[in-house]
Amino acid sequence: MRVIIAENADNVAFYGAQQCVHQLQSKPESVLGLATGSTPIALYEQLIQQCREGKISFAGVWTFNLDEYIGIDEQHPQSYRSFMQEHLFDHVDIERENTHIPKGMLDPEEESREYEAKITSAGGIDLQILGVGRNGHIGFNEPTSSLGSRTRVKTLAPDTIRDNSRFFSSDEEQPHLAITMGIGTIMEARKIILLAAGENKADAVKALVEGPMTAMQPASVLQMHTNALVIVDKAAAQKLEMIEYYQWVQQETLRLQGADC
Ligand code: F6R
Repeated sequence: MRVIIAENADNVAFYGAQQCVHQLQSKPESVLGLATGSTPIALYEQLIQQCREGKISFAGVWTFNLDEYIGIDEQHPQSYRSFMQEHLFDHVDIERENTHIPKGMLDPEEESREYEAKITSAGGIDLQILGVGRNGHIGFNEPTSSLGSRTRVKTLAPDTIRDNSRFFSSDEEQPHLAITMGIGTIMEARKIILLAAGENKADAVKALVEGPMTAMQPASVLQMHTNALVIVDKAAAQKLEMIEYYQWVQQETLRLQGADC
């Protein structure tokens, strides 16, 4: 696992976008794994900008999102389909049929099986973007999720429901169930970047980078991935013990690669 410590949240998005741009330039028909939530929004803005400037194209790209709420239609403003249309898909040259998000209104068991099959028939995910929950979840794999799990239905933890309540108005019913890619599914991505910013993520970042690998902190499974990059800002990195080492590696990497991270 490599750790990049960025000055602030904008720089986290910059380094994350740089990884995606590199991926799309070297393989224009990449399969991307995408996340929702607050963290990737600034990264998506940068990708939109790069696409407008003609530096990247999504014309041959396929995407698979991590998760979707069960029980809300994709037209619902809080569905992850709506989120992705608003924050990325409506602004780039991607074909709608190449964008995949689990469907929360279909039979969830069948939908989960089909989602796995679609990822496999697309050739697997080249680059997976992740955020992390304050409790260490990735996708909606809450603490105690099997580290080998596949796409399936999960019940959201009360903390996650509280954290995400900011997206729902008080008179709206907030779903407690979701379909999520499993941890085993996520781990099959050829490269993973996890982004985190803000001091409220500092405990989760400490646990995932330096803690023991445990189902109590699902993101800690990334310690087993051979190509995982964790990009955090200083606030999210503040509890890391080996911070000086990560900064040293970062300096050495920059020295060897020029300005490219
Ligand atoms: C979203 C997802 C979640 C979020 C996590 C962090 O598709 O899978 O795991 O990445 O809850 O959310 P934010 O970025 O809002 O802090």
